[in-house]
Amino acid sequence: MDRVIIDCDPGIDDSLALMLALSSPELEVLGITTVSGNVPAEMGAKNARKVLQQMNRLDIPVYIGEAVPLRYEYTDAMDTHGKDGMGESFLPDAPGTFPSADAVEFLEKTLEKEQVSVIALGPMTNLARVFSKRPDLIGQVKDLISMGGSFRSHGNCSPVAEYNYWCDPDAAAVCYKLFADAGKKIEMIGLDVTRKIVLTPNIREYICRLDPETGEFIRRLTDFYMDFHWEYEKIIGCVINDPLAVAYFIDRSLCRGFDSYTEVETEGICRGQTVVDSMNFWRRKPNSHILIETDSRRFMKFFLARVMKKQDGSRWLEEELSLLDTI
Ligand code: RIB
Ligand code: CA
Repeated sequence: MDRVIIDCDPGIDDSLALMLALSSPELEVLGITTVSGNVPAEMGAKNARKVLQQMNRLDIPVYIGEAVPLRYEYTDAMDTHGKDGMGESFLPDAPGTFPSADAVEFLEKTLEKEQVSVIALGPMTNLARVFSKRPDLIGQVKDLISMGGSFRSHGNCSPVAEYNYWCDPDAAAVCYKLFADAGKKIEMIGLDVTRKIVLTPNIREYICRLDPETGEFIRRLTDFYMDFHWEYEKIIGCVINDPLAVAYFIDRSLCRGFDSYTEVETEGICRGQTVVDSMNFWRRKPNSHILIETDSRRFMKFFLARVMKKQDGSRWLEEELSLLDTI
């Protein structure tokens, strides 16, 4: 079992990623840390606990993280994720309270004790805070998977930038620099691969038919998100970025990429752009593994087979989901 911390900004696709992580026996989720991104960190923490309640895992602690980016004014993404960050499903808060420690404290204390992996699904503010304070702890990070950035795909909040790295470019830049100094690589799950992961109405209907309870929860989260995608990108369905980062952590064969040295632009019109030195102009040791190809159908079978349950509580097998090849 891989012990992981999930740092996120739930957020609709973050919520689906949490569902996948909590349905995967390969992972032991030690804690969830939230950061201001799609929604403010505190709202994200409440949303994370709504997902934990749905998954009967309120035993997992949720730590509230950084409320604002390192330098830039905070810009949320509620236009995409709804006023509640959960597609305006307005689900009731889960019972219980939050630990007194904040996200950065939890990350620091956990990494001091043991080697764990981090799956980062939001702006990297929490990670920049802990690694700037304690660069020695980077050696304790088994794998850092970051949903963010883009190599050759256009941006989703500017012509060149992906939202997580645009929202707090200084944090992303610090993390890539500190990982370079430490001789380690960040696994970058960027828009090049996540744009290929589209939850369509047909796939969602399939989930509802096979597992009505899970399907209804996912429908409540994604109706708003699908409307947004039609209105702004004329996509029928919704791009679910974050679950691919979790799936890739579990099964690295789901994506293919290359090692490279990467920097993040922090200023001007290209704020948040990932500058991937794929041709090695700068002769720098790689600090990133850039994922550029994925098998979206294989991912969808992986995702559905784990998040859906049969009436007897058992899991579906990927080979039982052949209809996915035709819808
Ligand atoms: O750009 C997509 C990313 O930004 C996703 O993680 C989404 O949840 C938002 O955080
Ligand atoms: Ca996210």
